[in-house]
Amino acid sequence: MELESIKRIYAGYSGVYDALFKRFFYPRIKHAINYMDIKPGDRILDVGVGTGLSLPEFPKYCKVVGIDLSTEMLTKAREKIIENRLDNIKVISMDAMSVGFKDDSFDKVFISHVVSVVPDPYKVMSEVKRVCRKGGQVVIVNHFKSKNKVIETVEKIINPVCKKIGWRSDLCLTEFINKSGLNVNEKYMLKKLDFWHIVFATNEK
Ligand SMILES: C[S@@+](CC[C@H](N)C(=O)[O-])C[C@H]1O[C@@H](n2cnc3c(N)ncnc32)[C@H](O)[C@@H]1O
Repeated sequence: MELESIKRIYAGYSGVYDALFKRFFYPRIKHAINYMDIKPGDRILDVGVGTGLSLPEFPKYCKVVGIDLSTEMLTKAREKIIENRLDNIKVISMDAMSVGFKDDSFDKVFISHVVSVVPDPYKVMSEVKRVCRKGGQVVIVNHFKSKNKVIETVEKIINPVCKKIGWRSDLCLTEFINKSGLNVNEKYMLKKLDFWHIVFATNEK
C-alpha cells in the first residue's frame, strides 16, 4: 500500500477507530505493555501509535515517544495525552520506515497492529533495531496468517479486500521473525484461537 493511501485511509478511521477497534485491539495492547519490563527512566518508542490506545498503559516513570504517519490519528492520541495528563508522553508525525532518531535512542520499542499496515515491514524493523539500543526490548502485537489451512486460505482470499481497508492479512510470523532478524524470547496468542500474536524480542544489532 502507498503511503498516501495509508494516510487517506487512517484519516478516515481516526474519528471512529476507538469505537470500531478498541474492543479487539486494547486487551492485547494492555497485556503486552503490562508484561514489558519497563524500568524507571526507560525511553520507549511506540511505532504507529495511532489514536493512542496504548498510551495510558505506560507507567508515568518512563518516557514515551509515539510516531505515526497520520496527523488525524495523532490528533486523537494528543487528546488522550491531555485528558489523562500524560506529561511523560509526546507524539509526533513521522514515517516508521525512515525514523528521525539517532541510533540507540530507545530502551524499548512497542509496535501494535502496524507491521501489516506499512508498505515495507522489514524497513520498519530495520529502523526499529537501529533506534533501539543493543539488548533493548522489541514488542510486537499483530495479526499474522494462521497455521490452520482453512483459515489461511480465507485470509489469502480476503487479502485484496483487507489491503483496501488498511492492512494485509497474509503476513507470515515465521518469515517476519527470520527476515527481521529478531531474537525472540516469547511469542504467543492470548487465547487458543486468536487472530493476533504477541512477540517479545531482545534487540541484537
Ligand atoms: C491499525 S493502526 C494501529 C494503531 C495503534 N498502534 C493500535 O494498536 O491501535 C495502524 C497505524 O499505523 C500508522 N502507520 C501506517 N503506516 C505508517 C508509517 N509508514 N509510519 C508511521 N505510521 C504508520 C497508521 O497511520 C495507523 O495509525
